[in-house]
Amino acid sequence: MTKCIAFHSYKGGTGKTTLACNLAVSLAKKGKRVFLLDLDVSAPSIQAYFNKEPKKWINDFLLDTADVGDLAIEMTHLIDNDHASKSEENVGKLWVGFSNPKKEEIYKIEGGKEEISKMQLLRKFILLREKLISDYEVDYILMDTSPGIRYWSINALAIADILFLTLKMGDLDIDGTKKMADDIYGSLAKFGAKPYLVLNRVAGFCMPNNTLNMSKEESDSITHLLMQQESDSNNRISKLVGMDVITAIPCYCDIQFSRKEFLTILNHPNHPFSEKINRLAEENTIKV
Ligand SMILES: Nc1ncnc2c1ncn2[C@@H]1O[C@H](COP(=O)(O)OP(=O)(O)OP(=O)(O)O)[C@@H](O)[C@H]1O
Ligand SMILES: [Mg+2]
Repeated sequence: MTKCIAFHSYKGGTGKTTLACNLAVSLAKKGKRVFLLDLDVSAPSIQAYFNKEPKKWINDFLLDTADVGDLAIEMTHLIDNDHASKSEENVGKLWVGFSNPKKEEIYKIEGGKEEISKMQLLRKFILLREKLISDYEVDYILMDTSPGIRYWSINALAIADILFLTLKMGDLDIDGTKKMADDIYGSLAKFGAKPYLVLNRVAGFCMPNNTLNMSKEESDSITHLLMQQESDSNNRISKLVGMDVITAIPCYCDIQFSRKEFLTILNHPNHPFSEKINRLAEENTIKV
């Protein structure tokens, strides 16, 4: 059965886009059929990770000037599918639906003269999900959304089976997150959606073990201490917000300070970030 996962957060810049893009590639590399949707229609940014200039966009679908087939951009070539060693049903596929970052296109769907009714939009979102399931036989639909309680995000959350609420550590907004968890996630959970916390940019892992001239025992005990701290802080946040933590991803300077966004999972498959993402892709709770 298809799993539809939405990445959302109360504050901006928590890593929704980065995590959605990398998880989409990881799942496709594992042989899944994946459709990634940029539903952050007010500030689209998935394009930065895929360097693609589509002819049709999610905007066109929402405005009824394109079908799902027009906005589906196949990106399977990015994955190293070893066809020879895999049966056809185990070959991963990746499609991406991009949102148009042009100001006038955003304005068109955000209240310009072609304004579409809210009910019509929700129907479009439901139709999009149905079409991806029937026409593309996808295992996963991953949706990147806008931060906060915005109309667009709520639509995406409404069609999701799993909600990943990302939190940027060091800049926690527990109150806002808790409020959103109570008001929105709580209601959606009543209809069967499963919400989880995704802690991102967790501090404490930047210390290079080998430059400190530590013995193996010292290095192991520091790693153990950091893991203990991580687990304590996960439990504390989980209790405060009232949601389980599905993963905690450290902050990596090479990702944070890179001038251009990139897909770590492809560029650096052995990077600890990629390992975290691969582990998330194998979590029982999201398995299809
Ligand atoms: N684990 C990480 N370690 C280091 N940098 C990270 C990590 N995750 C994300 N980043 C960086 O943090 C920045 C914000 O990430 P991203 O754009 O994915 O957040 P977002 O939640 O989608 O933001 P917005 O709400 O504005 O759409 C990016 O520069 C990204 O490369
Ligand atoms: Mg984003």
